[in-house]
Amino acid sequence: YLLQMAPEATLRLILRKKPEDRTEDDIDLVYEDLMNIKAFSHLSNTVKKELSAVIAFESHKEKATTLFKQGDRGTCWYIILKGSVNVVIASKGIVCTLHEGDDFGKLALVNEAPRAATIITNESDCQFLRVDKVHFDRILKDNEANTVRLKEHGKEVLVLQKMSLKQLKDENSSLYFKYKVMAGTPEKVLEHLLETRMSNNYEEQFNKESLFEDFLLTFPIFISWKQMTHLLVRHYKIDEQNFRQMENYIIGNKKRVVKFVVLWYKISGEAFLNCKLIWTFINELVDLLENDNGKYSNNFDSELASLRGLIENKKTFDQNLEARGVFLWKADNSNSVRRMSNFNENVLAAIEAKNTEKVAKFTAMKDFDEIITRVYCADHTYTTLKINMNTKADSIKNQAAEKLNLDNGNDYMLVELKSDNEKIAFNEMELNIPTTLSLNGRIFISHVDHLDALTTLPEQEGPVNGSINSLDSFSSQEIAYYLTTHSWKLFYNIHPYEFIYHVFGRHNFNDITSNLDLFRRHFSELQFWVITEVLLEKSLSRRVQILKKLIKVAGYCKEYKNLNAFFAIIIGLSNVAVSRLTQTWERLHSKLKRIFTQYEGLIDASRNYRRYRVILSKFTPPLIPFVPLLIKDMTMVHEGNKTFVDQGLHLLGQTLRMIQECKSGSFQIESPANLSVKKMNSPITMQDYFEQIRVIDNQKRLMQLSYSLEHRKL
Ligand code: CMP
Repeated sequence: YLLQMAPEATLRLILRKKPEDRTEDDIDLVYEDLMNIKAFSHLSNTVKKELSAVIAFESHKEKATTLFKQGDRGTCWYIILKGSVNVVIASKGIVCTLHEGDDFGKLALVNEAPRAATIITNESDCQFLRVDKVHFDRILKDNEANTVRLKEHGKEVLVLQKMSLKQLKDENSSLYFKYKVMAGTPEKVLEHLLETRMSNNYEEQFNKESLFEDFLLTFPIFISWKQMTHLLVRHYKIDEQNFRQMENYIIGNKKRVVKFVVLWYKISGEAFLNCKLIWTFINELVDLLENDNGKYSNNFDSELASLRGLIENKKTFDQNLEARGVFLWKADNSNSVRRMSNFNENVLAAIEAKNTEKVAKFTAMKDFDEIITRVYCADHTYTTLKINMNTKADSIKNQAAEKLNLDNGNDYMLVELKSDNEKIAFNEMELNIPTTLSLNGRIFISHVDHLDALTTLPEQEGPVNGSINSLDSFSSQEIAYYLTTHSWKLFYNIHPYEFIYHVFGRHNFNDITSNLDLFRRHFSELQFWVITEVLLEKSLSRRVQILKKLIKVAGYCKEYKNLNAFFAIIIGLSNVAVSRLTQTWERLHSKLKRIFTQYEGLIDASRNYRRYRVILSKFTPPLIPFVPLLIKDMTMVHEGNKTFVDQGLHLLGQTLRMIQECKSGSFQIESPANLSVKKMNSPITMQDYFEQIRVIDNQKRLMQLSYSLEHRKL
């Protein structure tokens, strides 16, 4: 009720006195009359008392008086006693109106950042309480309310939380911000990042707080590349708004946009270079900067130089792509999607030199790469199509329908038929279909009414004879070595955004996930290879030998920090079709049995894979993590609200940063032998073996095989 009336004359008189002139009685009066308003409710009595000694009164007769402007240095904090004010942001206009009891202006004080908005009175005769910065810093800084919620047009757009003292102590004291972003709209978070995280030592800050990196690693979930460039241009053009600003602020603002772009490139890497509209945007930015050069007291030469540097990088990137050429991938009736041999010299030289980064540059799948794939009909006839990696399911369907002379393409649908006869319809917007198939899955085109009639091809059953014997002349260590170098290449090629696209529904992003797909295939291929090879060996003693060898391979994979292959093998061996073979396991040497039990413990899923996570934290990168778990971690977060950036962003960012960390450094393990040469007594090279590997991925069939080896106990 105190707010309903303006402070009476005596009170006003006291509030106008300088703090040193206030008597004890004055302070008591202020304390009793003013300190129970909402804005102070979280403060202790001692703090309120201190505040009573310094709080000031400010009133403005005229409507449309500016209290302070966006970009100003923050000098005080305000509480509205009477009237209302508009919060105006240069690029947006009035974003909200604050009323009696609301407070404003502490963001700049706490963050030591420029004012985030201009405040203009919205009616005549407005009255405020004001706490000046010196007093705010002394009395309130550590007692400040923990959360700040900013609204625009009635909706919350940013939720900030003060960092704890401990967090602040760990950080550099030159840090420009004291509030952590808890949640917000992508647009506002971007604005906030631009205003508070781009000071001169931004590189340093960048390493200190992950928000910025998290935002750039995950932004495609929330906004498109196009929207992001629009927001940046709008932010850049702050001086075009009919809005007089301090020149320094305008200049700083433009420079911050360029810094942001440079960091964006740093985080997004190849995806940034690959994105066409980015380069239109960067050229626009260059034009704007050139235009602005000379307009202000400060020039933009160094900003122009950084952008031109980016453009140079793009040129080199394009040249590399050109040199690399288009790859043709074959995904017909073999298990793996295999690369056809149209490598050019650049690629071969890079592979020869084992330069991971270069190899990745050349061998990572690109959206324009070509795939040869078959599309089958219900009668098992097929048509062969040459498509691009980014050809959409809908277009594959139409091309197939045309080649097969199907009357009305609309009556047909494109599905994956798995080896166990499960059918999965493709979303028509889905890209890189062939790489997303399950191991023995095939693409079928089917009349919508006859979907149930589809039957699997004989080849989808998988092999009838085991093949691991042809690896007899290779030691377990050599096999693990080969698997690790192979896994590493595949892992290195995955762009972090592929995880995002995969987890949040690939059809939403119009970008390929093939490199992640290939890695996931590699994982399940290893897993089913293990099961298949054990179950296709009829001789008990040979089967025991295979178990022994595989356990040893797993052990070496772990030693090589290839945790992914380690998991694949152990999960394969723990598959019930294998684990139920009691007679086989009984014959295994007790020492190996113990080792296996220990390995099984490591992949134990309880307490969210705690054992594995502990091990992982002890390993130093580079390493190959258990990728399916990373995907699971990200999927858990995915349930959140996609239009609002929140804690999920940090969790996703954390996983993605972890992936990047695993990739850091060059993966150098001691080669146990020269594996590129064909062994004297071996019929095949390891590479040929693993490229042609065929497996059974139908659990039902695996169980049947298992029962035929060792009968069900009665
Ligand atoms: P500060 O940046 O110090 O100065 C402008 C103030 O406006 C800011 O602190 C907030 O307290 C207040 N404000 C209210 N709504 C918003 C908003 N949507 N965006 C930015 N500032 C806002």
